[in-house]
Amino acid sequence: MKPPEAERRRIARAAAALAVTGLLLFAACHRHHPQSALHPVSEAAEAIATLWWVMFAVLAVAFVIVMAFVLFAIRRPRTPTEAPGGNMRFVIVSGIVIPGVILVGLLVYSLQTTVALRRSVTGPLIEVTGFQWWWDVRYPGHGIVTANEIHIPVGQPVRLKLRAHDVVHSFWIPNLHGKIDMLPEVVNDFWIEADRPGIWRGQCAEFCGRQHALMAFKVVALPRDQFDAWIAERQQQPPAPASPELTRGQKVFFDAACHICHTIRGTRAVGRLGPDLTHLGSRLTLAAGTVDNTAAHLAAWIREPQTIKPGNRMPPTPLEADDLNALVSYLQSLR
Ligand code: CUA
Repeated sequence: MKPPEAERRRIARAAAALAVTGLLLFAACHRHHPQSALHPVSEAAEAIATLWWVMFAVLAVAFVIVMAFVLFAIRRPRTPTEAPGGNMRFVIVSGIVIPGVILVGLLVYSLQTTVALRRSVTGPLIEVTGFQWWWDVRYPGHGIVTANEIHIPVGQPVRLKLRAHDVVHSFWIPNLHGKIDMLPEVVNDFWIEADRPGIWRGQCAEFCGRQHALMAFKVVALPRDQFDAWIAERQQQPPAPASPELTRGQKVFFDAACHICHTIRGTRAVGRLGPDLTHLGSRLTLAAGTVDNTAAHLAAWIREPQTIKPGNRMPPTPLEADDLNALVSYLQSLR
């Protein structure tokens, strides 16, 4: 048997480690986080965050009480007259009745929240389709097709029609709303709203294959006038190549058969297998939120996409350095 002194020190060390871990977790919570259900920027996300905190508080209290009983039971010597089965009434009340009441209460609260957030809204319609492993984004009222980025106006609910192209995905922007599955045969109606301008990260929330974790997107919430300007800009065709370098880049694009999979509006590139590239130069990220949209990343993505996102559907395109640079310049000019 261990001497009590050593045991006390061991318990003190464990308690200290627990306290430090808890403090670190709470410190992390206070940083700005663009993908956090606990930093809501909409009424819906607020309701979900409150639900989370209530559940956390209730269950934390239950945990502390149960642990206190466990400690009490371990430390307390059994009196010789005690029956081995213990106090049955205590077991039934605190082991079945009280947990049952707590869990049913939380279930009712969570169902209420779910029902309250199921709404049909008016507002701009956006269609989002999940592909392995990226997002096709369309504004059917405006003839705009883009990918991996959703622009919305601030302070107005936005209608979403969600579906999947291949396997089941799940659409989740933690700061704005809960998650909803995207299914291959079914269109799911959903809505989101942002109370203030900003950029938030959405993430696929249903395991959908090897690159599930790197299936992300950005939501850009803009004040109404900036949103309208964004729409007007995206409705334009991208500029035709305006220099020999860009003309060469466009030629490389077709010579390398990029148009088999990708669309660039206003050209003969009408492929539908990969993301639409019409305004690629204006997008924030590449490969569905995997890397920032820089010239170096774009070149690496074209040359060796499997090193950036192993398993993705984009084939490698070995090009001479000059051709690659011209292609990158051309793609970046698509705004
Ligand atoms: Cu798509 Cu996970």
